Amino acid sequence: MDIKARFLEMKRQGRPIAVLTAYDYPTAKAEAAAGVDLILVGDSVGTNVLGYASEQEVQLSDIAHHVRAVRRGAPQAPILADLPYRTYETPEMAVANARQLREAGADMVKFEGARPEIAAALIAAGIPVCGHLGLEPQTHLDKKLRGRSAVEAAQLVEAAVALDRTGISLLVLELIPEEVAARLTRAIAAPSIGIGAGRYTDGQVLVITDLLGLTSANFRHNRRYAELGPLIGTAIAGYVRDVHQRAFPTEANAFAMPKEALLSFES
Ligand code: KIV
Ligand code: NA
Repeated sequence: MDIKARFLEMKRQGRPIAVLTAYDYPTAKAEAAAGVDLILVGDSVGTNVLGYASEQEVQLSDIAHHVRAVRRGAPQAPILADLPYRTYETPEMAVANARQLREAGADMVKFEGARPEIAAALIAAGIPVCGHLGLEPQTHLDKKLRGRSAVEAAQLVEAAVALDRTGISLLVLELIPEEVAARLTRAIAAPSIGIGAGRYTDGQVLVITDLLGLTSANFRHNRRYAELGPLIGTAIAGYVRDVHQRAFPTEANAFAMPKEALLSFES
């Protein structure tokens, strides 16, 4: 079954789709083993892993680099890759750049905004597409809830329907009221994947560093399944302390020469 049909079938059966970001080999491996339905190599890699100030600094080569690592960790898993800021200014540009992400190992690409002509061009080129509406981090620099007014909500539904008509495989909905996400989900054929979009979408997506408690901010939309940040800090401090105090390594960590070799070596 192709990737679009697989998720459509999940929507039809009412089975929620679990999407999660990954940026590296070991995390991708863990996500595949845990049964994540779709791994997203998002441009959230920029602020969460690369130390960039915003999503706008992320380059196509950054995403391609991380897609390759994720593909090595999850050879069989479906992988979705973000087309970064300004890499889809025209349909031609979108197709050329999406092809590079596909060569790196992505199955599907995602872009932000009400741009059905971009989706149509990608799909015509044989590239499965995921849309992204609501908060569009690449251009909406104020990270606030979208679709709060009836007018804005109606515009979102209209944009979703236009994207859906091109034949997109999935649609990410970010930071919108759950009533809007529910209406939108009913209005389109493609499965909706929410982040901060409430309970009624066809699937959910989270950012792995948020889920693991590696980021300091605690967002309402997120659930922290671990607090790895303090754990990592404690582990590193322990190592530094042990080296400084000669408590590491011990004999158990060291290698010895065979007795006879040692005798002639020391003589
Ligand atoms: O880059 C990303 O992590 C995303 C998700 C928030 C949907 O686009
Ligand atoms: Na993104």
